[in-house]
Amino acid sequence: MFEATPLVAADKPGLYAELAQQVHGLLHDETNLVANAANFAALVFHALPDINWCGFYFADGNGLVVGPFQGKPACVRIAHGRGVCGAAAESRRTQVVPDVNAFPGHIYCDGASRSEIVVPLVLADGSLLGVWDADSPSLARFDDEDRAGMEALCAAFMHACPG
Ligand code: SME
Repeated sequence: MFEATPLVAADKPGLYAELAQQVHGLLHDETNLVANAANFAALVFHALPDINWCGFYFADGNGLVVGPFQGKPACVRIAHGRGVCGAAAESRRTQVVPDVNAFPGHIYCDGASRSEIVVPLVLADGSLLGVWDADSPSLARFDDEDRAGMEALCAAFMHACPG
């Protein structure tokens, strides 16, 4: 049985490197997408400080549909190109939003969210699996080190779920 151990690194890059190792340990024996997405969301939610929601939106039809997450119940469907998630899906680039109130078209799910990061999940054939979304109740919770760290965590997730 996998057991998450507290992260001990003093800086963000070290913390994300430890967490990426834990993602590998948690997911490497399983390829089921829902199982791995659920465990990934739970691991990250409990490991990282100052996060009120994190989870997946998967590509579905022309938009996105919510997948496994931790936090309060969320919007079920996001139309093509809408919100921070839609921007990440459409641009295939990670969106770091220091103040969600300043992001035109931001979609409110949990009114406590003040900042957000969304990482696109792109399959080997170039198609979009979905996005990984994390929200914080603090302004500017996510910086460039979080972007690099979250992208590395998502790469470990995609490695375990090659599609
Ligand atoms: N804020 C997101 C919607 C999803 S929730 O944060 C869970 C957006 O603007 O796309």
